[in-house]
Amino acid sequence: MIETLHLNALAPESREEAVNTAAGLLKEGKLVIIPTETVYGLAANALDAEAVKRIFVAKGRPQDNPLIVHISDMEQIAPLVREIPENARLLAERYWPGPLTMVMPKSDLVPDVTSGGLDTVAVRMPSHKTARLIIEKSGLPLAAPSANLSGSPSPTTAFRCAQDMDGRVEAIVMDEDSQVGVESTVVALHGQDVLVLRPGAVTPADIARVVGEEHVSVHPSITAPLSSDMKAESPGMKYKHYAPKAEVTILRGSRQAFLDYVGQHREQGVYLLQFEEDDDIGLPYLCYGSAEDSSSQAHRLFEALRELDELGAKTVYAHAPAAEGVGLAVYNRLLRAAAFRVIDLE
Ligand code: TXA
Ligand code: MG
Repeated sequence: MIETLHLNALAPESREEAVNTAAGLLKEGKLVIIPTETVYGLAANALDAEAVKRIFVAKGRPQDNPLIVHISDMEQIAPLVREIPENARLLAERYWPGPLTMVMPKSDLVPDVTSGGLDTVAVRMPSHKTARLIIEKSGLPLAAPSANLSGSPSPTTAFRCAQDMDGRVEAIVMDEDSQVGVESTVVALHGQDVLVLRPGAVTPADIARVVGEEHVSVHPSITAPLSSDMKAESPGMKYKHYAPKAEVTILRGSRQAFLDYVGQHREQGVYLLQFEEDDDIGLPYLCYGSAEDSSSQAHRLFEALRELDELGAKTVYAHAPAAEGVGLAVYNRLLRAAAFRVIDLE
């Protein structure tokens, strides 16, 4: 049975209780689902190889896909890494706590199972209040992948975590829905250069403001399938992600072009994943935010993908987001859900 630790906005002491229980379980090497500002995470003591192994089992995750280590204080970072590149320091000053993960050379303290056998470790300092309190109270760096079964969309609500993970973890801290809705930006640092491995709410332009535009690049696999001659800098790139049961196709074009196309595809089992501004043309649809607001799309996307599965959608036509700013993260996740099927309408 899963222990549910409820946070109740009307009873502030419920947070303290939940935090204390969660921290106690983590110290004993147990698995606890915690809220973060991006998506919910499945946490364990990052330095306890046995506990971390159980994360991989609970998720059904390939063992070579490394985990992100979560900290709440800059002092926690030194023991985890061999060096902190200067640009990492500058980016931490500007964007931590927040949805930015930085890959750095790992120290021997971090078990190989946590880093998927790599000699680097990914570190992030979340901004979510409850997450921070749990890290502080436990006094541990916490390894935490998204709290979904491997291959399904990351969970942005406690309910979805329970759906995927009941019986697989010791406890779940039930807090509000995740605010950002897509996982953190992951970057690798090579000397002065910063390579974006996974886009998120901290955008390439945000990073450029700190390290200079000439030092920022975006890995090609973010908007294209990883080709056999491309190096998978981040093992997560190799794996099929967010695979809904329906066949998803992304349609790129104006509101009118989208409507014209789907109007000609009124088949059984077709669902539309569209924007609030798009018209209702009599086909079943779900909205994922506003066409004008990438953050609203990020907030809603994963939940919408799960709902489409529950509705029994066979074919989904998704109106493409603008792949800029936070929209790059939305497009990147949707591309994977669509197995890179995109139709240009114009
Ligand atoms: O927002 C987030 O990052 C969430 C919350 C819970 O913090 N966590 C998350 O973890 O998304 P996960 O395990 O689902 O994704 C971690 C990604 C994977 O794509 C993995 O390959 C990459 O980070 N990664 C981890 N360590 C790495 C390393 N040493 N080098 C390159 N990529 C790494
Ligand atoms: Mg994940």
